[in-house]
Amino acid sequence: MTKEFTFNSDIAIAYEANTRTSIPTYDMLFVMIQSYYRVQFGEKAASLLVIGAGGGNELSAWGPSNPKWTFTGVDPSKEMLEIAKNKTVQLGLESRVRLIHGTIDDLPLPDSKFDAASCILVLHFIDDDQEKLKLLGTIKDHLKPGAPFVLVSAYGDPDGAELQDRLNVWKSFWVDAGHESSKMDEMVNRGIMKISFLPENHIEQLLEESGFTNITRFYSTGIMAGWICHAE
Ligand SMILES: C[S@@+](CC[C@H](N)C(=O)[O-])C[C@H]1O[C@@H](n2cnc3c(N)ncnc32)[C@H](O)[C@@H]1O
Repeated sequence: MTKEFTFNSDIAIAYEANTRTSIPTYDMLFVMIQSYYRVQFGEKAASLLVIGAGGGNELSAWGPSNPKWTFTGVDPSKEMLEIAKNKTVQLGLESRVRLIHGTIDDLPLPDSKFDAASCILVLHFIDDDQEKLKLLGTIKDHLKPGAPFVLVSAYGDPDGAELQDRLNVWKSFWVDAGHESSKMDEMVNRGIMKISFLPENHIEQLLEESGFTNITRFYSTGIMAGWICHAE
C-alpha cells in the first residue's frame, strides 16, 4: 500500500463520512453489486471473498438481506477491521462472517473455492503493477470457475486531460459538501494524486491477464469506476 494511505485509527473513523463525499453514489454501488450477485446465485447459498473488508460496508450492505451468503473478509488494517468486526456483531452476522487480518496471502488454503469475490476501493492503494497483477491473480485462484468478481478502483491517465476534468468534478463534490474551495488543489496534489491511477484499458488488461473474462464496466462516478467479470 502507498505509505500516504495507511488506514490508521484517525483515517478509519473519518472514512465513513469522507468516502460518501468522495463517491456520492457509494451506497448505491453496494445495492448494484448485490443485484449482480443475486442474479448469479439465485436462491442458492454462496461464499463471498471480500478483499479490503475494512470498515465492514460490504458485510453490512449484503449480510442482513442475504441470509444464505457467508463472507470471508481480508484487510491489513487492524483499525479498519475493528470497525468491520463491530458492525458484524451489531448486525448479528458473526456466524456468517470470518475476518482475517492481513492480505490475501494470509488466507488459509480453502476446503473449497469461493462462489464470488469483491475488491472495492483497494487496487489504487497498490503502487506496483506486478503487485496489482499478483493480487488479482490470487483472487482468481481462490474462485470457482465462472464465479463473478467485482473490482472498483480509481481510474484514468494521470497525465491526461480526461482525468483532470473528472478531478474537477470530484473537487466540486467536496465543495458542495461544505469544504473550502481554496483547499481543493492541495487535496488533489497532496492527497488523491498519490493513489495509483491507471487508464481504464490498462485495468481491463490486468483483469484479463489475471484470468478473468467477460470484463464489463458497470459503474463510474467522479474518479472511480467498477467492473464486473468472471473467473475463467
Ligand atoms: C478505501 S478502503 C475500502 C474498504 C471497503 N472495501 C469499502 O469499500 O468501504 C480500502 C481498504 O483496503 C485495505 N487494503 C489496502 N491494501 C490492501 C491489500 N493489499 N489487501 C486487502 N486490503 C487492502 C485498507 O486497509 C482499507 O481498509
